[in-house]
Amino acid sequence: MSSEMANTDPEGLDGIRMTWNVWPRSKVDSSKCVIPLAATISLIKPHPHIPRLPYAPLRCKTCSSPLNPFSRVDFTANIWICPFCYQRNHFPPHYSTISETNLPGELYPHYTTVEYVNPISNSFHQFPSNNSTSPVFLFVLDTCMIDEEMEFVKSALRRAIGLLPDNALVGFVSFGTQVEVHELGFSDMSKVYVFRGSKEIPKEQVLEQLGLGAGGGASGRRPGGVGPGGGYQKGGVQGAAAGFPGSAVTRFLLPASDCEYTLNALLDELQTDQWPVPPGSRPARCTGVALSVAMGLLGACNPGTGARIITLVGGPCTEGPGTIVSKDLSDPVRSHKDLDKDAAPYFKKAVKFYESLAKQLVSQGHVLDIFASALDQVGVAEMKVAVERTGGLVVLSESFGHSVFKDSFKRIFEDGEQSLSLCFNGMLEINCSKEVKIQGIIGPCTSLEKKGPSVADTVIGEGNTTAWKMCGLDKSTCLTVMFDLSSSDRSNTPGAVNPQLYLQFLTSYQGPDGQSVLRVTTVTRRWVDSSVSSEELIQGFDQETAAVVMARYASLKMETEETFDATRWLDRFLIRLCSKFGDYRKDDPSSFTLNPSFSLFPQFMFNLRRSQFFQVFNNSPDETAYFRMLLNRENISNAAVMIQPSLISYSFNSPPAPALLDVASIAADRILLLDSYFSVVIFHGMTIAQWRNLGYQNQPEHQAFAQLLQAPHDDVQMIVRDRFPVPRLVVCDQHGSQARFLLAKLNPSATYNNTHEMTAGSDVIFTDDVSLQVFFEHLQKLAVQS
Ligand SMILES: *[C@@H]1O[C@H](CO)[C@@H](O)[C@H](O)[C@H]1NC(C)=O
Ligand SMILES: *[C@@H]1O[C@H](CO)[C@@H](O)[C@H](O)[C@H]1NC(C)=O
Ligand SMILES: *[C@@H]1O[C@H](CO)[C@@H](O)[C@H](O)[C@H]1NC(C)=O
Ligand SMILES: *[C@@H]1O[C@H](CO)[C@@H](O)[C@H](O)[C@H]1NC(C)=O
Ligand SMILES: [Zn+2]
Repeated sequence: MSSEMANTDPEGLDGIRMTWNVWPRSKVDSSKCVIPLAATISLIKPHPHIPRLPYAPLRCKTCSSPLNPFSRVDFTANIWICPFCYQRNHFPPHYSTISETNLPGELYPHYTTVEYVNPISNSFHQFPSNNSTSPVFLFVLDTCMIDEEMEFVKSALRRAIGLLPDNALVGFVSFGTQVEVHELGFSDMSKVYVFRGSKEIPKEQVLEQLGLGAGGGASGRRPGGVGPGGGYQKGGVQGAAAGFPGSAVTRFLLPASDCEYTLNALLDELQTDQWPVPPGSRPARCTGVALSVAMGLLGACNPGTGARIITLVGGPCTEGPGTIVSKDLSDPVRSHKDLDKDAAPYFKKAVKFYESLAKQLVSQGHVLDIFASALDQVGVAEMKVAVERTGGLVVLSESFGHSVFKDSFKRIFEDGEQSLSLCFNGMLEINCSKEVKIQGIIGPCTSLEKKGPSVADTVIGEGNTTAWKMCGLDKSTCLTVMFDLSSSDRSNTPGAVNPQLYLQFLTSYQGPDGQSVLRVTTVTRRWVDSSVSSEELIQGFDQETAAVVMARYASLKMETEETFDATRWLDRFLIRLCSKFGDYRKDDPSSFTLNPSFSLFPQFMFNLRRSQFFQVFNNSPDETAYFRMLLNRENISNAAVMIQPSLISYSFNSPPAPALLDVASIAADRILLLDSYFSVVIFHGMTIAQWRNLGYQNQPEHQAFAQLLQAPHDDVQMIVRDRFPVPRLVVCDQHGSQARFLLAKLNPSATYNNTHEMTAGSDVIFTDDVSLQVFFEHLQKLAVQS
């Protein structure tokens, strides 16, 4: 099974890919391998062959790692040996019937990933208790926008409300100069609680003002909060039965089925912010306070309630904490240059505010989602920390009327095949063989600061821990775990002669249906003495994964290290890698060749250097933050496309085929389809565009042309179908102004230095960027230097 599937699905059952699939024995050897040891894991990616086991896992009595296919089992003695700590464990009585021919699911050799699913009436100990709470969706809507945008966002919200599952609890907060919390419990009269937007409001005060504090109404804490089946009580039992009657927070959070009418009526009446805005000024928009208030409200829910704050924002915060720019319109929103020169006076303070918001959200276990639609920046760069630490979603677009927003927003609430499978209350724990140390995780999670023997001294990303929290996660969430090796001599530790290393990933979460799941993935890899069997090491290199890991690592360093020179750092890695693994005679560049296991890697690095992740000055800080959040959370295939777009060529003479990412691929009689993840470009060659303008596709004798025109559009639909956020679609013609979306991504093989070599019909990029060929030549020269 697994070998067949490995060809089509590189992540397989386990959802894991590693930079190296064979590991060097020592810390010294691993540093000689240049590319760090790292694994990426798609935490809860569905797979038809993963068994669901309706009982609790059997754990090792010493290290508590669950029984797995790599445990050595002695059926006669009724004993299993843990591959992590070598502890001998007795099977409990309910395993007494197992034998070589009667294995429990978790011992099947190919079930390296299993899911323990908690049935509703589970009585097993040790298992996270199943609260089966209804998820909460708290909408937080910016009202400082023009009427047209307001109508777009209202219609998106109406559609969303109609799609919400009946058991979901819904709340609504709007904000502009002030924050308004809408009480949905009254259908005949709308009641709002108003908060000033200029000052930070502590959580206790929010609760007090809403009547949810310890003194007012029912207690905000257990058993008064929204809990198991927390329905709203109004003259009889409503919503889910057996709630906590009189619970105060149910005035604000109601089952979707009960408040659809009220919400729609509220949206009909909701106006744009009415505070006067002086000429030359930005509106006073208190996004920061609105989010604090929303978080405070959710603080009244029972612990363990999955909740998300869905923020729809149309401009920058200019009022109160979280402000990113002054109200004076002549004062532009900070750029990368400003950040670089430390000339962004609001930046650090705002980031600090959102960091504290993130901390509080994580401790409550709630998610922050941002849907930002505006022509200018809104402060995604500052809010990033709160979204990423809580595992929230982010979508950036120009308008609430744009398909990037509209279609993405709809996807959140959709069911079935199209569903994002939004899950709550996630936690990841990692166990590993003694020699392996964990430096940290890059991606949407928060360190739980749980120290243990496998914690490395150096920290990368969210580290200092063997456990991480993911308030929100979904079926595409992918994390990068950075590993190190122990530097101590381990010749006399048990298992020192074991040729295999083991890693175990335990992900617990609450599914969209409220079910508690514990997913256990146990994987093994071979140790190799790198000086002896370098060939084995080379065969185990995964260049696509390595490229993505380097992109994530470099992006993290660019954000956290002030004077970090990313291009230089990357070039040094690449040169060292080529010196170490290339075949060549010293000081003879022409003799240089690279093993196929590495041969695609330099081109990935070439494109990474030119990508939005490195050339940040071509974008705004908001865009860069957005690109990086998605780079860090998507699977390897998707992340690779962000770095190195894919290009497909359509022509009369041949079926659609991959084309080189090079200007030479442009031809007058071709259509090109470029997928760079965030945008998808359909580019018509000159002749194709002319024929289309003449309407040939509408003539019966030119059926083939009509089909050729249609083919890339059909393929775009395939791409858009399972991508979140939905990409921007650009349809353009050769020499048209939009053609730059394609040209910017192509290798400038034809520059003004060698235009004479160009073939007719292709384009010329006037650029100072070096071409791939020049880059390769330099690389070879430096790699072979003695
Ligand atoms: C395995 O994980 C458990 C729970 O996080 C921890 O207590 C234990 O020390 C870990 N064992 C090893 C060998 O890392
Ligand atoms: C890791 O933990 C140590 C002590 O437990 C602390 O001093 C250090 O600052 C932490 N590092 C990070 C990056 O959190
Ligand atoms: C990566 O994610 C996309 C959805 O965004 C999915 O279609 C694709 O199959 C995934 N790739 C792998 C290897 O799992
Ligand atoms: C173009 O030629 C000049 C001078 O020959 C050289 O310095 C420059 O690097 C070349 N540019 C490219 C992109 O090859
Ligand atoms: Zn153990």
